[in-house]
Amino acid sequence: MYLILWNAGVLGILIPQVLGMKINYDGDQLLQIIPQNKDQVLCLQGICRSSQLDLWKPLKPEDINVRSVVHVRIPSMVLQPVKEAMLRCSLSFKILVDNLTQFMSNPEERKVRGERSLSDYDYTKYHPMEDIYNWINVMTEKHSDLVTQHKLGLTYESRPMHYLKISKPSNRPKKMIWMDCGIHAREWIAPAFCQWFVKEIIQNHQKDSRIQKILKNIDLYVLPVLNIDGYIYTWTTDRLWRKSRSKHENGTCYGVDLNRNFNVKWCSFGSSTNCTSNSYCGASPASEPETKAVVDFVEIKKSEMICFLTIHSYSQYILTAHGYSKDLPKSYNETIKVAEMAASELQKKHGTVYKVGSFANLLYEASGTSQDWVHDLGIEFSYTIELRDNGTYQFVLPEDQIQPTCEETMAGVMTIIEYVNDKYFPSQASTSFGHLYLYALVFYIINN
Ligand code: ARG
Ligand code: ZN
Repeated sequence: MYLILWNAGVLGILIPQVLGMKINYDGDQLLQIIPQNKDQVLCLQGICRSSQLDLWKPLKPEDINVRSVVHVRIPSMVLQPVKEAMLRCSLSFKILVDNLTQFMSNPEERKVRGERSLSDYDYTKYHPMEDIYNWINVMTEKHSDLVTQHKLGLTYESRPMHYLKISKPSNRPKKMIWMDCGIHAREWIAPAFCQWFVKEIIQNHQKDSRIQKILKNIDLYVLPVLNIDGYIYTWTTDRLWRKSRSKHENGTCYGVDLNRNFNVKWCSFGSSTNCTSNSYCGASPASEPETKAVVDFVEIKKSEMICFLTIHSYSQYILTAHGYSKDLPKSYNETIKVAEMAASELQKKHGTVYKVGSFANLLYEASGTSQDWVHDLGIEFSYTIELRDNGTYQFVLPEDQIQPTCEETMAGVMTIIEYVNDKYFPSQASTSFGHLYLYALVFYIINN
């Protein structure tokens, strides 16, 4: 055993995963660099490639551009040489996070979070998957009149993918809205938001007239963690893992970027056929069981689905279709108007500024995203929402930002949901409009 460990230490830094140990990011730094000219771009690309650095923005060295922001993680082992190399080509950098583990949850702490009752479930903490499974169970037991749990499918590692259906009985035909969180494993704030959303709807549906109005017409479907295998892996082994955990090329590499695996211009832009890449699109469209589960569900439900929301982090964007092209879809005028309304309601909570635009124009070109696949099926209100932050902590958003992030996101998401409700169910659109009409009528009668 000692011999193996000793060898592992000598052989390199990728060995901890193989031994089932947790990757240590202690002392790693997160840098921001804005190359000012072509030479600096080439230099930075060279450094990224030769040191195989973990690029967070953009995802690939070839997408680094003059005067565009680059976020990159530098392992503590190579901090010194990498910084020296950057200085040699006059690249200045800003240290965004000077020790990454500072903001990663401590595994010791999470043991106390396995609360069995809902009253002490802490929505302002990140939760490991076993807590979330348990939360789903307790939630559906306690609120069986409103929430039910259903199985969407199984993950690659055979874990059940449970979604929650929030629905009030009705004898009229209803529509539905889908929201998934955590398609990318390390974006922990996303599953935290899905849980927050369910809690808020359940807590407030009796007193909040807007929720009441919506639930008369619409069922809400929430998948709290889409990429469960990946999420678990971020807790046990690698906090910064993005993809799923399927095995490729005889176990030489793992994971597909599930948000590149949908059958829409599959694997053409902003995705890779190389299974070691963070944007690996998989062997074929919907090759991954997680993707297939979503696809099968949406195909069955597409005539009822009026809005599709997929929650990511980070960037603070509300993105409309498309990712696969910078050309705007015909739905754009209306969908962007709704995104603007949502961003403005969101900002009112804590002043957080969001940008709105199409995926490819604001974030980067990417084909095979769930949002585009769903949009092109005919569900025009299909949004990717990139939550906090804007670059400071990125994928390791501190827990003290969970609550404000969820509060503001709730405001944004509810704006979108209310808009589509009022669009598809105009007769009950707004009680205040109804009253206004009545007042006008009475006024007319009295005066004539
Ligand atoms: N959630 C985003 C994604 O799906 C990452 C956003 C931050 N990264 C970036 N390159 N801006 O890839
Ligand atoms: Zn993402």
